[in-house]
Amino acid sequence: MSKENKRIFSDIAYNYDKVNRIISLGMDVGWRRKLARMCLDGKRDVRILDAATGTADIPIIITEEARISGKRAEIVGIDYTKRMLDVGRQKVRRNGFKNIKLMLRDAHSTGLKGNSFDFVTSGFALRNFDDLQKFLNESYRVLKPGGSIAFLEVSRPDSAISKISWPYYHIFIPFVGMLYSRKSYAHLVSTVWKFDRDKLQKMASRAGFTDMKVHKLFLSVAFILTATKPK
Ligand SMILES: C[S@@+](CC[C@H](N)C(=O)[O-])C[C@H]1O[C@@H](n2cnc3c(N)ncnc32)[C@H](O)[C@@H]1O
Repeated sequence: MSKENKRIFSDIAYNYDKVNRIISLGMDVGWRRKLARMCLDGKRDVRILDAATGTADIPIIITEEARISGKRAEIVGIDYTKRMLDVGRQKVRRNGFKNIKLMLRDAHSTGLKGNSFDFVTSGFALRNFDDLQKFLNESYRVLKPGGSIAFLEVSRPDSAISKISWPYYHIFIPFVGMLYSRKSYAHLVSTVWKFDRDKLQKMASRAGFTDMKVHKLFLSVAFILTATKPK
């Protein structure tokens, strides 16, 4: 699975940002901004691990938000697909952001120091992990006591919306995907449809997280899960 995932993300790396904007109808930017504000809320200095950072959109948006609000954010972004990170590095360099460090690492076993981050974030990546429980355990390990996870993800919408959104998932996304990489976006639709939000919450609680909240976004097509490592 991870070999296939790496191939898929290498394949779409250079078009990833463009296709993301199209298939989310531009909404992903607002969702990422909301996640960024959650991480910065009530803090002056924050240290964040962005797992499966891809092309570094989340670290970049957190940095922009921190600058607007006069805060300091140090962000480590990790991903196991080199080409996604290459695109991310170009963007970070172009913006001159010195607070973002991007590293080629597996999110299941980061090799990073325990108890060292205020937040672990992740965007649109949970569906891709081979072992979600292992990733949640690793997030728990690297967080400081009192630190939190904030994961942005898309999932199958609630049943009332599910019917009207069917053409969006089964016609619009495959059509846009076909223009870039048919196989990769077929994979995206199948993982969205299979992803189980309740199971994720149970796993997070098994990892030790408490104070769990699901913030639903736009008709429940996306959500941000937050939870805390107890002090
Ligand atoms: C859909 S992209 C999301 C990228 C980015 N987080 C965003 O917000 O757009 C999923 C990313 O997860 C990465 N990924 C999947 N499994 C991983 C793992 N075990 N460790 C590190 N990266 C992983 C892929 O390489 C890919 O870049």
